[in-house]
Amino acid sequence: MLVLGIESTCDETACSVVKDGNIILSNIILSQIDVHKEFGGVVPSIAMREHCKHMLSVCKLALTDAKVDIQDIDCIAVAHGPGLTNCISIGMSIAEAIAMALSKPLVYVNHIHAHIYAALMLNSIATFPVLGCVISGAHSSFFIINSYLDFELIGETIDDAVGEAFDKVASMLDLGYPGGPIVEKKAHLGNRRFKFKTCKSKLGKLYFSNSGLKTQIMYKLREFDKPFSDSLVNDICRSFQDTVFEDIVYKTKYAIEATGINKVAFGGGVINNNTLRRILLDNINGELFFPPNKLSVDNAAMIAGLGYHRYMNKKFDKEMPTARFR
Ligand code: KG4
Ligand code: ZN
Repeated sequence: MLVLGIESTCDETACSVVKDGNIILSNIILSQIDVHKEFGGVVPSIAMREHCKHMLSVCKLALTDAKVDIQDIDCIAVAHGPGLTNCISIGMSIAEAIAMALSKPLVYVNHIHAHIYAALMLNSIATFPVLGCVISGAHSSFFIINSYLDFELIGETIDDAVGEAFDKVASMLDLGYPGGPIVEKKAHLGNRRFKFKTCKSKLGKLYFSNSGLKTQIMYKLREFDKPFSDSLVNDICRSFQDTVFEDIVYKTKYAIEATGINKVAFGGGVINNNTLRRILLDNINGELFFPPNKLSVDNAAMIAGLGYHRYMNKKFDKEMPTARFR
């Protein structure tokens, strides 16, 4: 069973062909980072224009790479949110047009759920339930996953997502966009010189709040003259990263304790951070699943893969994102 996956929720134009939910025949990701770099973040109108320009050729490339003809595709899967509405509409329009022109079924996939599926698709998971934790540029969420069709949201961010905090700290330090990889690099060279803290939410222990942390860093930097020394930049990155990662470890431990589920699947761009993977592996007592790096960032293989399960279970509805704040 071949599924053509389409992803356009933010700044990656992506298309993939996946067989039977977990055999990736192609996975084309066209990143728009270079286009948005000069603006210090994703500009939605430009992102939409880029998806318009490139989506069809990315789809053709995915088919060529997979060595399949469009007629061989059994089903189309498209990410329908959450994300930038105007960007999503490009992927949805193309997916709907292909499905209609070829009389093929179309399924809609939740982008955040797909991030977790990315950790599970190449690992044969014995039994549900599994805990899911998505740490990306736009989302920081915990789920109880009872099946690939049943994701129960049990915590999320009430303000900045973790990746967004990385990007904003990088911007304060003039390190460019996206901030995650460069902050990770600088943190390696630094020491935990400063005491920062993440904030608590009245909603519960699994809710993230990072905007106060960003403000603490902004005030700390006001104590120093520009240009900032290398050691200051490295120490800020290290102090910030350690603080954020301690919070993720604390929340994951709490989620395990509160639910009694000790299998955790992680997904999202920040999970690319090798320091975070190591800290989680060293500190969490449970079975942890991580996606390979190319499946941590936004991609369409995770959409096609989860789309396969939606198709097999005749789920043709647009299951709306459960996120309360986004
Ligand atoms: O999952 P993703 O590609 O897009 C969203 O769905 O949001 O995540 C992008 C985010 C960006 O904020 C980026 O700075 C962050 O992932 N990121 C990292 C690393 N690589 C990417 N954050 C920390 N360390 C990294 N190595
Ligand atoms: Zn994403």
